[in-house]
Amino acid sequence: MKNVVLVGFMGCGKTSIGKKLARLMNYEFVDMDIEIEKSSNMKITEIFEICGEEKFRKMETELCMELSERKDCVIATGGGVIKNEKNIELLRQNGIVIYLKASPEDIYRNLRNDCTRPLLAGGNKLEKIKTMLAERRSLYEERSDISAEIGGMRASEAAEIIKEVLKEKI
Ligand code: S3P
Repeated sequence: MKNVVLVGFMGCGKTSIGKKLARLMNYEFVDMDIEIEKSSNMKITEIFEICGEEKFRKMETELCMELSERKDCVIATGGGVIKNEKNIELLRQNGIVIYLKASPEDIYRNLRNDCTRPLLAGGNKLEKIKTMLAERRSLYEERSDISAEIGGMRASEAAEIIKEVLKEKI
């Protein structure tokens, strides 16, 4: 069966919802950031700091190539995966792409104490989230097959709803 590919801004719940959805569907769960950390033996923050964002984006695209060959996986992508159209083409080869829609305030609530997202480090975090989300929103909308309004829901609740929506699509 096709993969289920979760896209959306940092801190929108891709990992927590993805884990629950995979369990409900009896699919394997794959977290792209964790896969990149394992294969490079570095934390995401270190990759950005030492090798730069461009190198990280190359690693992300290489992983999309590998994942396009897989099936029966729920894939939690990194929030920037949609910036490169090629990534989405690859992930869509055998996957249905779901945008987990969340407001800047929901995202801020989830990430206010987080220090693992280099792109949100320093300065006013809520303002950064608002600006980046405004830049990316149309990409998330255009490059996904389904938009899921999951703001304010518990991960288990969101996973149940997504599973029901997918019944008709997969
Ligand atoms: C990024 C999102 C992060 C991670 C990296 C860059 C982005 O993943 O891939 O820090 O550009 O939005 P999460 O969405 O899992 O936080």
